[in-house]
Amino acid sequence: MKDYQDYLEEILISEERLQRRIRELGQEVSADYEGEDLLLICILRGGVLFLTDLMREISVPHSIDFMAVSSYGVGARRSKGQVRITLDLTTSIEGRNVLLVEDIIDSGNTIASVLDLLNLRRPKSLKVCALLDKAERRESEVPIDYRGFEIPNKFVFGYGLDLDEYFRNLPFIGVLRQDKVSEFADAS
Ligand code: IMP
Ligand code: MG
Repeated sequence: MKDYQDYLEEILISEERLQRRIRELGQEVSADYEGEDLLLICILRGGVLFLTDLMREISVPHSIDFMAVSSYGVGARRSKGQVRITLDLTTSIEGRNVLLVEDIIDSGNTIASVLDLLNLRRPKSLKVCALLDKAERRESEVPIDYRGFEIPNKFVFGYGLDLDEYFRNLPFIGVLRQDKVSEFADAS
C-alpha cells in the first residue's frame, strides 16, 4: 500500500497554519464582496479542499460551480498557455462577480488561459484566489487577488494536491522527497 510518509521530505504548511490563513482569506473576501452577488469557481481537482474550507469562512451569500481543464502535454513538455476545458460550468457567469479558487499557481499558464476563456463570457468581475503561489516559476503574468502562501520552487502535495492522484486528503502541505521527484512526471 502507498504510504505518504515514504514521499514526504517535510511538512511545509501545517494544518493549523492552513486553516488560520484560510479563515483570514474568507474574511477578506467577505468584506470585499459585501452586498454583492458572488460565484466561486473551483478548478478541479486540486482546488476542492481549499474551496470547501474557504466557503465556510465566507459570510456573504454565494454559489459555487466547478470546471476542469487539461493542458496539452505533461510536466516540462506541457505547452504554454494552451488548455482544453474538460468539464465546463453549468451556470452562466455573464454579469456575475466571479472568484476563481485555485490550489496552486506555478507557471501561471493554466490560470492565464482560464481567465482568457472566462472573460469572453462577460462576467461583471473576475478575480483569482490561490492558496499557493510558486512565484519563482512564473511564465505567464497573472493577477493574484487573494494569496494564501508564497512557497519555494519545490514539488508539494497534500491538501488537494496530488502525487499521481493520491494523497489529496492530507490536511497539510508537504514537500516531495528529492530522491522521489523522478518518479512523478508532474514533478520533474
Ligand atoms: P501552472 O499552469 O504551471 O500554473 O500549473 C498549475 C497546475 O499544476 C496546478 O493546478 C496543479 O494541478 C499543478 N501543480 C503545479 N505545481 C504543483 C505541485 O507542486 N504539486 C502538485 N501539483 C502542482
Ligand atoms: Mg496534478
